[in-house]
Amino acid sequence: MPAFLHRPGQLLAVLVLVLQPSGSLEVQCPVPDITHGQLKPAQNFTYGSTATLKCDAGYVPVGGTTAVRCLSSGRWHPRVPACTLGHCPYPPAVDHADRNPQREFPVGTIVTYFCRSGYTLLPEVSPITTCLKNFTWSVIPKLCQKVQCPSPAIQHGREITPRKAEYTFGHQAEFQCEPGYVLRGSQRVQCWSDGTWRPPVPYCDSVCGPPPKVTNGQHSGSRKEQFPYGLEVKYSCAEGLSLIGDDSIYCTSDDGVTLAWSGPAPECRVVRCPKPAVERGRMTPQRFTFPYGAAVRFSCDEGFMLHGDAESRCLADGAWHPPLPTCQPVLCPQPQVANGKLKSPSDTKMWYQPNATVTFECLDGYHFSDDGDVSLDGSRTATCLPDGNWTPLPKCKKEGDADVCEEINHIKTVFECGVPIAEVKTLLEIQKLFLEIKKLKVELEGLDE
Ligand SMILES: *[C@@H]1O[C@H](CO)[C@@H](O)[C@H](O)[C@H]1NC(C)=O
Ligand SMILES: *[C@@H]1O[C@H](CO)[C@@H](O)[C@H](O)[C@H]1NC(C)=O
Ligand SMILES: *[C@@H]1O[C@H](CO)[C@@H](O)[C@H](O)[C@H]1NC(C)=O
Repeated sequence: MPAFLHRPGQLLAVLVLVLQPSGSLEVQCPVPDITHGQLKPAQNFTYGSTATLKCDAGYVPVGGTTAVRCLSSGRWHPRVPACTLGHCPYPPAVDHADRNPQREFPVGTIVTYFCRSGYTLLPEVSPITTCLKNFTWSVIPKLCQKVQCPSPAIQHGREITPRKAEYTFGHQAEFQCEPGYVLRGSQRVQCWSDGTWRPPVPYCDSVCGPPPKVTNGQHSGSRKEQFPYGLEVKYSCAEGLSLIGDDSIYCTSDDGVTLAWSGPAPECRVVRCPKPAVERGRMTPQRFTFPYGAAVRFSCDEGFMLHGDAESRCLADGAWHPPLPTCQPVLCPQPQVANGKLKSPSDTKMWYQPNATVTFECLDGYHFSDDGDVSLDGSRTATCLPDGNWTPLPKCKKEGDADVCEEINHIKTVFECGVPIAEVKTLLEIQKLFLEIKKLKVELEGLDE
């Protein structure tokens, strides 16, 4: 193609003369180079011939003219039109969907749809349409469906609005709980555009009913009908009456499902205990009435001892618990001396009065080891004290132990004085010798018998 013909669709102003076989020259119009189109017929463009512009699929003639004629000047009339990309009309409206705000739709344009709020794209459909080469839009299937919320159901309650087969965007539901349950959350909910209920579907929570009543008293929950888990009510009695039982109960659950009060109501009654009388005893604190729950402590006069519990309490039956103690004269128990006995067997008793004195002697082969109260004849005595104890009792030790003890004590003293170790050693050897002689002596005595 000649260089000056390079521009596509250009009006060709070149006169072409063709030598006819007859010898005459004939005017010919050039073959136009049309992008996305061509003339029909495609050749033999002599003066006076006509041709029609055919654009490629998707293209349209500019200006709409399609017929051209070859003039005697060798030009086309009208000028050979060009083909330009065609357009589609506005894409069709799709139910419950919108598209981008676009106004021009050349062939090949892809338009995407979006479901409106409250609607969702049907599964496995493509929300696009394409402007085709025949200037129509590719087929658009049904795209959007209404958003659905899960069917709302609550335990121990029901929906009071009519139940529906399905719940879609905008639907509302209202709920009510069975007796014994209280609604937690919003009574009315609405299906939202994202397929959830807002506010969330409520639930029915178990509650305790009114707490048990108390005669001649009252409780702190009298103004309510329903009591949530853990709530406590306190009871009180009318003036002058005693509250028997727990003064408060609370709403609880044994099985984790149903709620109940933790116990029965207390009782309000007149409870008076008699004035507690303990002979030769004293009572603290000093009081003059003894209602239910009153507690008193007892102590005994000098020379008397408390038998029983020192503290007692007035209980619902109008009696003192534990029973009141008594004050008994102080006595000393029978004194026990290992390896010893009472000098006079007629002194043996279970109990001894204060000031009673007993005399001990050691069994054969034993002798007293301490400096207890020594009587004239060398025996030891003990006296029953006013607090029920004896003066220190004597101890009986095996005969012969005394010397050994003395020696050991001596050695101990030497150690404690910081005597040089060499001297201690000598001393110890002397002791050892002494002990051996003693042992020999005992053995010789044994042989004599
Ligand atoms: C052109 O047209 C002439 C007569 O109009 C005809 O004789 C000739 O064969 C045609 N040429 C072609 C290539 O079709
Ligand atoms: C346009 O083209 C498509 C696919 O090429 C075809 O299915 C459709 O029928 C055509 N539309 C018209 C109006 O010819
Ligand atoms: C015991 O002896 C003392 C003094 O000897 C005396 O004061 C006291 O009253 C006596 N007690 C009894 C219980 O006899």
